[in-house]
Amino acid sequence: MSCAPGQPCAEGVKRRRALAILGVMAIIFIALSVASFLDSRGQVVPSNVRYADFGAIEGKRIFQAYNCMGCHTIVGNGAYFGPDLTKLYDKVGPAWLEAFLPSAGSWPAAGAVRLQLQNKTVATEAGVDTLEAYLEKYPGAAERIQRRGGHSTLMPNLPFTRQEIGELIAFLKYTSAMNTEGWPPKPKVDGLRFPQATPLPVAAQPATATAAATTASAPAPGTPAASSPAAKIALGATLVKDNGCTACHAVTTQKLVGPGWGGLYGSTVKLADGSSATADDAFIEEKIVKPEARVVAGYTAGVMPSFANVLDAAQVDAIVAYIRSLKESKP
Ligand code: HEC
Ligand code: HEC
Repeated sequence: MSCAPGQPCAEGVKRRRALAILGVMAIIFIALSVASFLDSRGQVVPSNVRYADFGAIEGKRIFQAYNCMGCHTIVGNGAYFGPDLTKLYDKVGPAWLEAFLPSAGSWPAAGAVRLQLQNKTVATEAGVDTLEAYLEKYPGAAERIQRRGGHSTLMPNLPFTRQEIGELIAFLKYTSAMNTEGWPPKPKVDGLRFPQATPLPVAAQPATATAAATTASAPAPGTPAASSPAAKIALGATLVKDNGCTACHAVTTQKLVGPGWGGLYGSTVKLADGSSATADDAFIEEKIVKPEARVVAGYTAGVMPSFANVLDAAQVDAIVAYIRSLKESKP
């Protein structure tokens, strides 16, 4: 393009104007680009998030290795078979996750969460150390315990190690801390009534009421629960449910997270160190209060929690009596 000779020529002016507009646009573009990154300067990064001694980056690898996204969504990605996990940590807290993940095939009951709070590290992470305070701080945990505690889930039990559980919780702590600008959205249900699932009669009953019911059904009213052998076994049966043992152990020979108890008593148990032990009173008692002392071959150590601070001697005794009463039976 050029101006014909002798004609008035405005081309230079037009070109300068076009360049000026382009310049202004470029400045606006750069300024907006910079501004769009300003927010993310305060965003959490996984390398800064730890749960106790476990890192969120390692947790992300475990999350991928087990293909959790094949069933769950997280930060907008994944599948819809299981619920979204992005903001779960804030809702249910670390003790609930500690209780849930090792035996994911079953929803944790209150006893299992209380047990986790006995662990100082977990209590520190949770910021509270009693179950009552925990349930107040993490209403998601309270709701899950009340409505589903003790029932089976649609998620399979996965063979996690202690380390993997800690790392997964670190990862979920990280995604919970992310600023997702309000995502996932809360459904707006003003004016609609979504009836809450009716709690099952057992779940609605506090643990003490169940224990009291057991006492009441003991042969001689007024005698302590564990006085007759039958009452002791009945007490043991209640205790293994209330304390979450049955999330990991079947009362048949079926393997869940741990070995089935059916026919266990008196049998010879192969141990991880190559030796073997007889499953007598002493072995089962030790398993309950000091599970890491002798680990069964073929299972991961550190998955079974210690119940030393939760169960007293009489309760351990009742559980042993109950396990002794379980004959070998197929599921
Ligand atoms: C085969 C599919 C499947 C896989 C794989 C799977 N989950 Fe799940 N998960 C589920 C389902 C289904 C539920 C909901 C269970 C129910 O409602 O009964 C669930 C529930 C959960 C919950 C409780 C959610 C809540 O809102 O209470 C957590 C936490 C969880 N899964 C974590 C994980 C993690 C971490 C992994 C990977 C290590 C994983 N899941 C792998 C299917 C799966
Ligand atoms: C989070 C899962 C989990 C919970 C909860 C749990 N256990 Fe275990 N338990 C295991 C695993 C895994 C093993 C096998 C590895 C080992 O020996 O530590 C096991 C092993 C055992 C054994 C030895 C079984 C055998 O075949 O020799 C006994 C007995 C036992 N548990 C009793 C209990 C009792 C009683 C409770 C509740 C007070 C309980 N467990 C709670 C996971 C669990």
